[in-house]
Parts: sequence; structure tokens; C-alpha cells
Amino acid sequence: MKRTKIAELLNSTSSDERVLIQGWVRTRRDSKGFSFIEVNDGSCLGNIQVIADAALDNYEDLRKLIAGSAIGVTGELVASPGKGQAWEIRASRIDIIGDASESYPLQKKRHTDEFLRTIAHLRPRTNKYGAVFRIRSELSFAIHRFFRDHGFRYIHTPIITGSDCEGAGELFRVTTLDVNDPPKRAGTVDWGADFFGKEANLTVSGQLSAEMLAMALGDVYTFGPTFRAENSNTRRHVAEFWMVEPEMAFCDLECNMAFAQEMIQYLTTYILQECQEDIQLFARFVDKTLISTLSVISQSEYVRLPYEEAVDILNHAPRSFEFEVASGKDLQSEHERYLTEVHFKKPVIVFDYPKTIKPFYMRLNDDDKTVAAMDVLVPRIGEIIGGSQREERLHVLEQRMKDCGVTREDYWWYLDMRRFGSVPHSGFGLGFERMLMMLTGISNIRDVIPFPRTPNSIEF
Ligand code: 4AD
Ligand code: MG
Repeated sequence: MKRTKIAELLNSTSSDERVLIQGWVRTRRDSKGFSFIEVNDGSCLGNIQVIADAALDNYEDLRKLIAGSAIGVTGELVASPGKGQAWEIRASRIDIIGDASESYPLQKKRHTDEFLRTIAHLRPRTNKYGAVFRIRSELSFAIHRFFRDHGFRYIHTPIITGSDCEGAGELFRVTTLDVNDPPKRAGTVDWGADFFGKEANLTVSGQLSAEMLAMALGDVYTFGPTFRAENSNTRRHVAEFWMVEPEMAFCDLECNMAFAQEMIQYLTTYILQECQEDIQLFARFVDKTLISTLSVISQSEYVRLPYEEAVDILNHAPRSFEFEVASGKDLQSEHERYLTEVHFKKPVIVFDYPKTIKPFYMRLNDDDKTVAAMDVLVPRIGEIIGGSQREERLHVLEQRMKDCGVTREDYWWYLDMRRFGSVPHSGFGLGFERMLMMLTGISNIRDVIPFPRTPNSIEF
């Protein structure tokens, strides 16, 4: 018999069907002549109640079932006379597929996020984390759909690279050399003897490769894992995260900003519609203001704010900040949150940042001081997107690389692209996990990733 997902059964319209479900026991409660077993199979938040009759031949074993056990149930789907559920299954047969021991760490009470992180292998079985990871899946799908509907091509950019796109030096080295005894040349490690014949690292961004493809295919996007050896423990940084990076030929900063807003609004609307039940859980238990925040994000026009004006607003704020606000310094999370949560109460796109705090590839503005950068900031998180118009003029780019200390020889192909039909182009990177934080109200990025990687933490 074919297994039916519980999500399908709970939306069922006809009873008296013979069904087979397989899942994990959430709770069991005995009454006279019956046992009530709540089963969840991960297909949705809801459980289905199974009625196990004392007449079942393994009834004695079933009465010993504890939470966490896996079972298969064959029976009749019937309208439930009990409160709180429309359907239940009258079991004609229950197979115990996998026993659980009495020390199953997930109890009926609510556990703290901190505790659940220590049992990351089991936390997807809780209501909250099941919901997070279902939304994670839906959001991935929505991203591909959004781009496909807009005529973008999905490209795959390398995971192992020889470049540091952001120039921040937060690289994880990739090597096959013996770290205890590497070959040396003139006293230092001879990277020429390494696997690729030069230094290699895990990618910090697919952007530079995406730019090359955009110069052929027009509108492209890459969506994949990204790695940064940022040695800071914050609620919004991890060492391994996923980034969505569109790159658009013939698109300037204005076009880039409009597209970023359109994408966030599409994705937010999509999740509000497609994941209603799971989103409601977060609105009830995680962030009471979630729905109103998300409707502002999905419906209102985002503020466009030049960097200098942002600094001005922050300097006149009727409160103090831990980190100093000064022209020429990068905005900190607390500043970004002030702008979006207190001052404007909606998403803000800050643009035209000082060139001194941004990477070499961003297009230099006519003032010679700022670059065509843009960050999209949202309430409760701050920066969710970082992007820019790219420098398409060869001589300007060469000068910027020089100023930023980027070696020309390493990026000859990037420069070469400016020699053959170079065009204005733009793109951005959306932090996939930050988007999930925004959608769920979860305040720690570790809790939207099944197995998060942070400094000193790689247990699972
Ligand atoms: O602002 P970033 O560094 O931009 C880039 O890497 C560009 N090359 C993207 C592009 O233009 N194609 O990173 C983009 C986004 C950030 O806004 C943030 O949401 C997320 O990636 N991000 C992180 N998310 C989790 N953990 C980290 N350590 C992150 N660093 C960046
Ligand atoms: Mg950034």
C-alpha cells in the first residue's frame, strides 16, 4: 500500500478511506480499551491522532511505545468526534518500525533554543524547527521560481576559488599540502606545490564569476553556499551560509535597487501565502509583531537613503549608540536597526557609501569619493542585502584595484572583460539565512540552519 503524507490527510475531504501513514510518535495516552497515539511525519505542523484498539494483536507492545518511536499505521480515515482535530485514523494494524529509548531528549514541554542546539540531530522533530526547515525549503523553491519568471538563467559558480571578492581576507584555505610539513621555498610555504599550483580558498561570493556569465547571458543568478572565516560570534553571522546573487547586464544602481525590493516583496508574499500554518506558529510563539512587520515589508515602498543622510539621521538620534557614528565609517547593526525600526519603521536602502569602506569592484561615482553601493536594511536584522553597480570602465577599475591593494595579475580575466563589450551592470547578494530570520522572527541565525558552522562549533 502506498504511504500518504499526513499533510494530505489533514486536508482530506472524504472519510472511510483506507490509508497507510508512517511517522514518529509525538505523544501516547491510554484510556480503557484504547490507546491514542499522536503521529507526525514532518510533512506539516499538525499530527494525526491514531486510535489503537486493544484488539490489535501487538497491543501490549503498543502500550509501551514512547515519544520518538517510528511507526507505520494502516487503517481507516474517519471524522474525529474529539475536539481539536477533524480527522483521525482507526488503526487496523500498527507496525513498530524503530523503537525509542526512554531517555529520548525531547519532552513535551518547550525546550530552550540553546538546549536544542546541543541536540541539532533531533531538533527538526520539534514543531518550531520542523516549521523553520519547511519554510527554508519553500523559500529556496520560491527563489528559483522568481528568477525563472523574470527570465534569469541559473548559473553555478565555483565553490573553490583563487580570489577574494570582498577583499576582507576572511578566507578558508583549501590545500592538500601536509600542514605539519609543507614544502618550502625561500623560507615560506611553496604554494606552487599545492594542488592547484597556487593558493586556493572557499568562495566568499560568486559575484565575480556571475559577472562574466552576465556579460554573455544577460540576467543570471547563482544560489549556493558561501564561506567566511569571520571570527566573530554574533546573532547574524555564520561561517557557512547561502547567498542568492543576481547579476544583471545593462542595469544601473537605480534598476538594482528596484529589483532588490521587488524580489524581497515577492518572496515575502509567497511565504505568507504558501506557509500560512508554519508562519502562524512563529507569529504566536516567537514574534507577536511578525505578521504586521511582514506586511509592511511586502507592501510598502522602501526608503532610499544616501549614506551621508543616514549618518546625519544617526548623529541626530535622540539616543546613544555603542559604536560611534561618523562619516567614512561602516554602519553597525545597531545603527541599521535604528533606521529601520525606530526612524522609518520600514525597510531602508542605503546607497552611495564612501569608497574607502567598500570593495574594489564597485562603480566610482562622479564625486570621486563614493561608490554606487547599496545595502537593503530591514527591521530586526539590519543588512539583508549588499550590492552595487559594478565598475565597467577599465582605467577606473585598474586605479581602484591599485588603491585597494588588489593584484592585477590575479584578476586579469576580470579586467579583460572590460575590454570586450563592457556594459553597465549591477547585482547584489541576499543572505538566505537572514531572509529566513526576517520571515520567522527568529533572532539567532544559528536557529535557521540545520547544522550551523560558527567559531569553535562543528559538532554535527
Ligand atoms: O554584503 P556582502 O558581503 O556582499 C557580497 O558578498 C557581494 N559580493 C554580493 C554581490 O553583490 N553579488 O554579502 C551579501 C549578504 C549580506 O547582506 C548578508 O545578508 C549576507 O550576505 N552575509 C552573511 N550571512 C550570514 N553570515 C555571514 N557571515 C554573512 N556575511 C554576509
Ligand atoms: Mg555587506
